[in-house]
Amino acid sequence: MRAVFALAAFVALPSICSGQNTTKLKEQFIAENITALFQNDVGYVAASHNLRYTVEPIAIAYPITPEQISAVVKAGVDQTLNVVARSGGHSYIANGLGGTNGSLVVDLSRMKSITVDEATGNAIIGPGNRLGDVALALSDAGRGLPHGRCAYVGIGGHSGFGGWGYASRMWGMTLDNVLSAEVVLANGSIVTASEDSNPELYWGVRGSSASFGIVASLEFRTHAVPSSATAFEFLWEMDIPTASNAFIKFQSWALSGDIPLEFGGEIGFLKGSSYGLVQFAFLGNYFGPADSFNSTIAPFFDTLPPPDTAAVTQGTWIEALAAIAVGDLNTTTQPDSNDTFYAKSLMAPQTVPLTNASMTSLVTFLAEVGFNSSDFWHVEVELYGGNQSAINQVNFDDTAFAHRDTLFTFQPYASSPNLLPPYPNSGFSFVDGMVSSLTSNMPNDWEWGAYPNYIDDRLLGWQRRYYGSHYDRLRLLKSSVDPHDTFHFPTSIEEPQV
Ligand SMILES: Cc1cc2nc3c(=O)[nH]c(=O)nc-3n(C[C@H](O)[C@H](O)[C@H](O)COP(=O)(O)OP(=O)(O)OC[C@H]3O[C@@H](n4cnc5c(N)ncnc54)[C@H](O)[C@@H]3O)c2cc1C
Ligand SMILES: *[C@@H]1O[C@H](CO)[C@@H](O)[C@H](O)[C@H]1NC(C)=O
Ligand SMILES: *[C@@H]1O[C@H](CO)[C@@H](O)[C@H](O)[C@H]1NC(C)=O
Ligand SMILES: *[C@@H]1O[C@H](CO)[C@@H](O)[C@H](O)[C@H]1NC(C)=O
Ligand SMILES: *[C@@H]1O[C@H](CO)[C@@H](O)[C@H](O)[C@H]1NC(C)=O
Ligand SMILES: *[C@@H]1O[C@H](CO)[C@@H](O)[C@H](O)[C@H]1NC(C)=O
Ligand SMILES: *[C@@H]1O[C@H](CO)[C@@H](O)[C@H](O)[C@H]1NC(C)=O
Ligand SMILES: *[C@@H]1O[C@H](CO)[C@@H](O)[C@H](O)[C@H]1NC(C)=O
Ligand SMILES: *[C@@H]1O[C@H](CO)[C@@H](O)[C@H](O)[C@H]1NC(C)=O
Ligand SMILES: *[C@@H]1O[C@H](CO)[C@@H](O)[C@H](O)[C@H]1NC(C)=O
Ligand SMILES: *[C@@H]1O[C@H](CO)[C@@H](O)[C@H](O)[C@H]1NC(C)=O
Repeated sequence: MRAVFALAAFVALPSICSGQNTTKLKEQFIAENITALFQNDVGYVAASHNLRYTVEPIAIAYPITPEQISAVVKAGVDQTLNVVARSGGHSYIANGLGGTNGSLVVDLSRMKSITVDEATGNAIIGPGNRLGDVALALSDAGRGLPHGRCAYVGIGGHSGFGGWGYASRMWGMTLDNVLSAEVVLANGSIVTASEDSNPELYWGVRGSSASFGIVASLEFRTHAVPSSATAFEFLWEMDIPTASNAFIKFQSWALSGDIPLEFGGEIGFLKGSSYGLVQFAFLGNYFGPADSFNSTIAPFFDTLPPPDTAAVTQGTWIEALAAIAVGDLNTTTQPDSNDTFYAKSLMAPQTVPLTNASMTSLVTFLAEVGFNSSDFWHVEVELYGGNQSAINQVNFDDTAFAHRDTLFTFQPYASSPNLLPPYPNSGFSFVDGMVSSLTSNMPNDWEWGAYPNYIDDRLLGWQRRYYGSHYDRLRLLKSSVDPHDTFHFPTSIEEPQV
């Protein structure tokens, strides 16, 4: 009895120590002229993109300079609060709000400047920018970055954990283009992380930034935009053998070495119109010459039946991005959207191709269990690999991102039927089932990974799936720059075991 009591008292201790004094916090923010909203303040909105989460931070601060970020961090440390950054707020598990109640949120939405150096093409981007606005500003200067197509995702989280888009086979993940970052550490220091300055921190912010500090500014290498671009989306309704076979053909094409780096794309699966059918989508961007698009996709496309619908748009870089964007690229024109969902990821290594049985098993699951499900679901199968893919050309140890041999990243995703809460329990088992339909048909020791930007707090052994053999090195970095775990959230890097 005594031992149990002692343990309970010990566990309770940290929250007693951190008995927050909001009066003091408010005074500190006023002294530094920092806008901050506390619970019950007019305008305090802690809405998550994923409405499955209700998370209430103690306060949301809106700094406008690195010095103000530093003051917020110090005020949080003073009261042993968890401090987290919010950029676009699109974390799947509300990590931008701290993931659990009572965190101090550093909202970066007032740090939105974007400047491009005309001589070098390097861009300095404020961490509060959304991807659509970044694309528009860079495109005005004839430049581009690889990143996802959801306009409202923030550059802060996207570049901190990965950043995959249709230009990634050509230019790498978003984080591969980070030349330097200005980072506010737990002790309030404002430091530069680059190859020459704090190189270990530079390594860590490119793969797991949120655990080490608040990124106050990012410098990117950008790329001259291609002179023409194609956006495409083809859709079929297929039965199980046809869809499985199409998927097998897609893998054969990916492994053939025939896909130019200018090609970026994915396969999508959606619910079919009757039992035993699925919708099969093939979509992406092609950044090579417009008249070579057909011949580029022919080795795969010509093996398929004619599509039920086809949308092909050819034009400039930014027109192709806009054609396939989710949301208007200019994010000031519409409010952000939300959803009530659960998603997982599975990164399939290029060295062990998916078996026919695993592909057939996934498609069968979708056409049968998926048809019966009332959840609103889809699966994305994103092409990372193929011959010379820039993602896989980066040395494994150059960045904390631990996936340099991925052929496909699967993202099974299920929303509640009307996209609003409550989230049905069936959604979890359905998404879990999509993953196990693949893994149960692969060798037991198959080393699949998971993508930290599709963050999942139900993933068992997440440390290894997300970070592989980089995890121990990440823990060492954590202890050196954030020894008291100030930047704590449900999937933050843990302090080393003592
Ligand atoms: C609709 C939708 C579409 C998506 N499409 C893609 C896609 O095509 N490709 C892809 O790769 N991913 C995609 N994602 C995933 C997306 O990349 C991640 O959810 C990303 O982490 C969101 O970043 P954010 O800044 O919007 O989110 P936030 O919730 O603000 O932040 C996410 C995490 O990053 C941390 N963070 C944010 N800013 C900073 C900073 N300045 N310093 C330190 N830490 C910071 C937060 O604390 C949090 O842990 C998509 C997500 C959604 C919701
Ligand atoms: C909270 O902080 C205020 C202002 O700094 C101080 O006057 C007050 O005594 C503090 N309250 C507690 C309970 O420590
Ligand atoms: C406080 O910040 C606002 C902008 O947020 C600025 O207009 C004002 O001049 C600042 N005041 C002081 C005293 O620095
Ligand atoms: C946060 O607090 C709210 C209100 O008390 C509660 O509904 C919610 O479940 C809490 N969230 C978490 C993650 O504990
Ligand atoms: C892979 O790409 C390189 C460079 O584009 C090319 O030389 C090589 O032939 C390709 N390999 C295959 C198997 O096609
Ligand atoms: C490409 O194929 C489409 C239809 O499949 C056709 O309409 C178009 O003319 C082709 N383009 C070229 C350049 O061959
Ligand atoms: C975005 O839209 C706003 C409001 O319509 C407009 O003022 C602004 O100029 C647009 N920005 C870009 C880059 O097009
Ligand atoms: C979700 O988005 C819708 C549509 O933009 C909006 O009306 C609603 O207020 C949002 N809900 C929350 C809780 O953010
Ligand atoms: C996998 O399926 C393809 C296409 O149906 C077929 O050509 C191939 O022989 C199959 N491979 C195995 C190992 O069964
Ligand atoms: C789908 O529902 C039908 C009708 O209820 C049922 O016969 C069938 O077994 C279900 N299929 C699966 C895979 O659950
Ligand atoms: C802050 O922490 C960093 C990383 O541990 C350290 O290098 C630096 O000296 C510290 N700064 C101060 C003022 O203590």
